[in-house]
Amino acid sequence: MATRRLGWQADSEGFDTGLLETAPTAALGPGRARTPGLHSVHEWLRAAGADVLFEATSLNPQSGQPAIDHIRAALESGAHAITANKGPIVHAYDELCSLAATRGRRFLFESTVMDGVPIFSMFRDSLPGVHLRGFRGILNSTTNVILTGMEEGLSFQESLAKAQQMGVAETDASQDIDGWDAAVKVAALVTVLMGVRIRLDEIEREGIGKLSGEVVRAARTQGKPYKLVCRAQRTGHGVTATVRPEQVPLSDPLAWVAGTSSIVYFETDIFPGLAITENHPGLEATAYGMLADFVRAVTP
Ligand SMILES: NC(=O)c1ccc[n+]([C@@H]2O[C@H](COP(=O)([O-])OP(=O)(O)OC[C@H]3O[C@@H](n4cnc5c(N)ncnc54)[C@H](OP(=O)(O)O)[C@@H]3O)[C@@H](O)[C@H]2O)c1
Repeated sequence: MATRRLGWQADSEGFDTGLLETAPTAALGPGRARTPGLHSVHEWLRAAGADVLFEATSLNPQSGQPAIDHIRAALESGAHAITANKGPIVHAYDELCSLAATRGRRFLFESTVMDGVPIFSMFRDSLPGVHLRGFRGILNSTTNVILTGMEEGLSFQESLAKAQQMGVAETDASQDIDGWDAAVKVAALVTVLMGVRIRLDEIEREGIGKLSGEVVRAARTQGKPYKLVCRAQRTGHGVTATVRPEQVPLSDPLAWVAGTSSIVYFETDIFPGLAITENHPGLEATAYGMLADFVRAVTP
């Protein structure tokens, strides 16, 4: 295992589950020492003899690093790579898929969008040949928690603090507020499910930072609440995609998705409207998605 604070650690007997809650210096308890001399993912992969790497470092929307390097190293060493970090899909999807195929390993990422709800595996395993024309949805929990909180009378800062307390906000919350996290999710869905490589700067992006509590509450009272809406649509030339605050009529299912809940509404050739809603997930939902990927990876 590795974190920034604890560094790279390997132990053939495994670690206590309480390791991350303890101070780094006391991390391994009496009679156990840190594995000495591990300074990189390559050294860790060799020392741990890992069969599977779980990658859950913080999102870097601009580069996808260091997650890409971790996943690349894992696949090169012959381990499966499972990630909750969307950066590598946007910045290195083709390379990592082809590396996984060459090495006969799996590169899986179900937890990157909607916390492990089976979206990628649904298209891969249950909708063969279905053509995805477009989608729209609410894919960022933090901004949805903030907008819901503001509708209930909290200030922007109070609502943000609530999202941070829940553990759903990115470490750098501006990535949520400015729409980066949502844009990276849109890019991941477009890349994998629509087969179109889209750069982040091709997604028209506007965050919720300009919305005041007064404006948000008035919109809800008028029956057209604000939501940070993600959209992608095929055109003759490729895909257009947007992330921006939109007023959504109450007749639209998106209007009723509150707090940490999320929704994606797919438009396909066979199913004109196929919606998946995730109501009030806990943090274990993301962990479950990674566990489900692990089972897929190791099941022949
Ligand atoms: N939280 C959610 O609900 C959720 C849902 C779906 C997907 N995700 C994705 O899952 C990932 C993790 O989310 P999170 O909320 O747990 O993020 P987080 O709170 O930022 O935690 C990231 C972890 O990665 C470690 N880390 C960061 N950079 C590292 C590096 N260069 N080398 C080694 N370790 C490093 C951190 O170590 P230190 O703590 O020691 O700094 C920390 O343990 C993100 O990519 C996020 O987008 C999160």
